[in-house]
Amino acid sequence: MIERPRRLRQSPVLRSLVAETRLHPRDLVLPVFVGEGLTRPHPIASMPGVDQHTLETVVEVARRCVEAGLGGIMLFGVPQHKDATGTGAVDPDGILNVALRAVREAVGDDLVVMADTCLDEFTDHGHCGVLDEQGRVDNDATNLLYAEMAVAQARAGAHVVAPSGMMDGQVAVIREALDAEGLTDTVILAYSAKYASAFFGPFREAVQSSLQGDRRTYQQDPANIVESLREIDLDIAEGADMVMVKPAMSYLDVVSAAAERSSVPVAAYQVSGEYSMIHAAAANGWIDLRAAAIESLTSIRRAGAQVVLTYFALDVAEWTA
Ligand code: PBG
Repeated sequence: MIERPRRLRQSPVLRSLVAETRLHPRDLVLPVFVGEGLTRPHPIASMPGVDQHTLETVVEVARRCVEAGLGGIMLFGVPQHKDATGTGAVDPDGILNVALRAVREAVGDDLVVMADTCLDEFTDHGHCGVLDEQGRVDNDATNLLYAEMAVAQARAGAHVVAPSGMMDGQVAVIREALDAEGLTDTVILAYSAKYASAFFGPFREAVQSSLQGDRRTYQQDPANIVESLREIDLDIAEGADMVMVKPAMSYLDVVSAAAERSSVPVAAYQVSGEYSMIHAAAANGWIDLRAAAIESLTSIRRAGAQVVLTYFALDVAEWTA
């Protein structure tokens, strides 16, 4: 036999030497929730080990991200009061903007500070945009609010704004608004290919979402991939600095196609349900938590995601230290 592929698998050092993909803390971004008016962290039952943080503890987490050598942190705000237009999202004193200021002050430029640019955490109906008289999500009116929200986030210190509402034209409107305010250095990470997914379930608990109905008129049908490539092309043309595919594990074909096609870095988001599934199976003794988490994240990187958002980010840093 001339070809013996097993020869390269015989020892850990040899396997490591020829590994085609590596999982490194610098490539990972930790999503973090911060709740308005909280006096101590509030555990999220469906996401073991994940809390809704106070303004004090979110800063501690951000410092831990720096120490762990992570690439970034993505902040989500949970306001005390929600209303029809998500006023808390554009208010400089709204929870997300206050948290961004505190985190940026603590970490400076040692960690990439990202902000979720979306209204669903702030609206009482739970949709990612504002509604018209018929109760439908109003695309263009929503974009105006996203533009205002992105400017407030950038002013609060976000290095990166991440529009996740899947409105048509959202990247262009945000880029124009940032530039008009002189915020030309603010990076846009576009959630370009975002699917109407059952795997967002635990996130809805995390942000106490009051969503009525579903998001199928703006998030994509899981049946489609050509549509994702169109969304990615449009976002890059509109000025996206990075594009994202979300969720990750069930969409590795989309991640792979995006990586092949994109002229900008591709990110993927291992969402709440993906995290919770691994935890739930591990809690039952059915799979090994650490091995399953590392395998899933390595697969997302192998598929072509340069940047991975994951609730396991700090765990991975600890496991691979
Ligand atoms: C929208 C947003 C959602 C997630 C990230 N940004 C929820 C949604 O679109 O329904 C989900 C993240 C996760 O499930 O971990 N603001």
